[in-house]
This record gives sequence, structure tokens and C-alpha cells, in this order.
Amino acid sequence: MSQDILTAPPSEAPAAPLPEATAPLPPSVVFERVGKRFSDAPDAAPALAEVDLAIGTGEIFGIIGRSGAGKSTLIRTINRLERPSSGRVLVAGTDVGTLDNDGLIALRRRTGMIFQHFNLLSAKTVFGNVALPLRVAGLPRRVIEERVRNLLDLVGLADKRDAYPAQLSGGQKQRVGIARAMVHEPEILLCDEATSALDPETTQSILTLLRDINRRLGLTIVLITHEMAVIREICDRVAVLERGRVVEEGPVWRVFGAPSHPATAALLRPLVHDLPAELHARLQATPPPGPHETLLGLRYAGDRRGDPPLAALAATLGPTLRLLHGGVDRIQDHPQGLLIVAVELSPTELPQRLARAGALADRIEVLGHVPLTN
Ligand SMILES: Nc1ncnc2c1ncn2[C@@H]1O[C@H](COP(=O)(O)OP(=O)(O)OP(=O)(O)O)[C@@H](O)[C@H]1O
Ligand SMILES: [Mg+2]
Repeated sequence: MSQDILTAPPSEAPAAPLPEATAPLPPSVVFERVGKRFSDAPDAAPALAEVDLAIGTGEIFGIIGRSGAGKSTLIRTINRLERPSSGRVLVAGTDVGTLDNDGLIALRRRTGMIFQHFNLLSAKTVFGNVALPLRVAGLPRRVIEERVRNLLDLVGLADKRDAYPAQLSGGQKQRVGIARAMVHEPEILLCDEATSALDPETTQSILTLLRDINRRLGLTIVLITHEMAVIREICDRVAVLERGRVVEEGPVWRVFGAPSHPATAALLRPLVHDLPAELHARLQATPPPGPHETLLGLRYAGDRRGDPPLAALAATLGPTLRLLHGGVDRIQDHPQGLLIVAVELSPTELPQRLARAGALADRIEVLGHVPLTN
């Protein structure tokens, strides 16, 4: 990457969505049957087993999984902080296992890394922390000055250059971490739980910064997090690790919209919107003889684009339609979640209307019936 990436103006137009997995970008990182054992004991479970993945250039790629699933181990094989016991890791086509010392230094410059606890030196200022890797690399003072200034501008910390870490908020410390990770103008940024120590609002501002850097500089970002909302917010694709194996991968909208592995479903459970308890208590399985409403669940699994077509739903299901509960998120413009609506229809009318509404959601289910009292 050239020097002027750090001074590139912000792009005006909203970033176009990345192409989906069907049109993969040239890979930035490739894992080929990567395995890792920390113990020689024959019955010890491997930390990684047969991991095959390709991370596209310019992608924001998420890695999720339970604690101990192998996420950190996997990401650390990219800059060879861990060496695989089997298989290969390729960065921009080079097998990182074959690198000599100089090659390893070059690799680590191409792969910046940020951490949950920021890892800043408390006795150095913001400027000093960001400048340190450049001083170690022996760059001239003038070059260091300019590059650090550009980086502090990039992360929005120009006015904090002489502050010490203890004088900064968590979000500001992570901005310093990001600036320091970028000093060698890397092509890849590795983030291991980079927002986990931050409150939701600060997390949001760091995610916005990461996405901005990704779009403006074309940086590939590999991101581990236990916060599913972070993945949903900024990742293009995601892989789910379970006991060291990739059990699911794909565009976020697909994996989150229709998880195919129980491990994914378990991780996503906090995001699922269920029927409110108050409605649940009044619900009957069979239609009561008197006036009643029928509750319908309209599922959006992420296969379509655009918002749920409410006007078309009202036209099809009739003027009694009421929206009771909306839990639809947009992931990369694919609606995903559950709308719960109530309709007042006779038992003969209901199936006819439902048949016509079929195309307006990925799945429509009758959740039950609630007697109308007055
Ligand atoms: N240096 C090490 N020595 C021995 N075992 C290790 C080492 N590093 C990781 N492990 C083991 O490898 C497995 C995967 O660990 P890893 O840190 O990659 O998990 P993780 O998915 O990042 O978990 P967390 O979400 O808790 O950070 C775990 O069983 C862990 O105990
Ligand atoms: Mg970890």
C-alpha cells in the first residue's frame, strides 16, 4: 500500500455493499486444513482442526464461537504468533510458515493487531505510543512525525497527541491502539475482542471507525467478538468455530438469518425476538367460538431484500391487521427476524388470506388465537 493512503479524502458516496460470497474477492488470508495441538497427549482435543477458510481482500470477516473454541488461536496463526501443527496459512499468497526472520518482520508489518485491553505503554504519550514501532524500525524523525500526525487525524485523536493513556477514555485508548496497529500501513487488521471492554456507545464509534478505515483504505479486517451485534453491524462474512472446527460460514445475513448449526443458533439466541410474555399467556391453540384475533408470526430469514411489505400485508390480510411486535433487523439490507401481527378473520377466511400472503414473508405461522372481550 502506498504512503498516500493515510491522506486519502473520505469517500463521499455511501459505500456500495460488497458482492456476496458467490463473487469472492481475491483472498487475503487462506487457511488450508489448519490444525493446532497444544498438547501431545493423544486424548487431548486439538485447539484447531482442519480449518479451511478464505478471507477476501477488503472484507470485514467475523469469527465467532464459544469461549475456548479456538478463535484467538486461529487469528494468531495469521501473523504467526501461533504456528499451526498441520496445514498452511497463506497471507497474500505466501505461506507464512516458510518465512525467515526478515520475512516474519515484514509479515507482522502487513498485519496490524488490536487487543481488548489496548496494550498501551502508560509512560508514553499518545504520540509516543503510536510512534514507537516506527522508531524501532529506524525511520527518520520527519517521516515519523508526519505519519503519526496523519494517523491521529485518521482516528480522531489529533488533539490528544500529548496525553498519557491514563488521561484517555477506553474508546480513545482503542483509537490509539488502532493508530499504532496502522503505522506500517498494513493490509490486514486483526481485532481480537477489540470492543469487548467498551460500552455500547463507544463500541459503536470504534465500529464506525473500523468500517471507515476498511472502506477508505481497502483494509482487510479479521474480527473476533462475542458480541453478535458487532458482527451483524459491520461484518461481510462470518465463520463459526466450535471445538476448533469451522461449523458454518457465509455472508452474515445468511448465517444469522438461517443458522444451520446448533452452535450458531446458541450464539444468536440473545438476538432472537420471541413472543411477549403477556401475549403468550392469553394465547389459545384452537380458535374460540366467539370473536377472536389470530396471531401470526411472519418470519424473515434474510433471503429477500428491502423492508417487510407492510402495505401489501395489510391489503392481503385485511383491514383488521394490527402490528403487535416487531423484531426485524436489517443485516446487509436483508430483513431478518419476526413480525407478530393480529388479524380478525373467520376460520374459513383465514386460510384463504394466508395463501395469498405467502409470498410476503419467508414463512407465516399461526401462533394461536386470542379471544376478543369487550
Ligand atoms: N498457549 C496455549 N497453551 C495451551 N493451550 C492453549 C494455549 N492457547 C490456547 N490454548 C487452548 O486452546 C483452546 C482454544 O483457545 P483460544 O484461546 O483460541 O479460544 P478462544 O475461542 O479465543 O476463547 P475465548 O473466547 O475465551 O477467548 C482452548 O482449549 C485453550 O485452552
Ligand atoms: Mg480468545
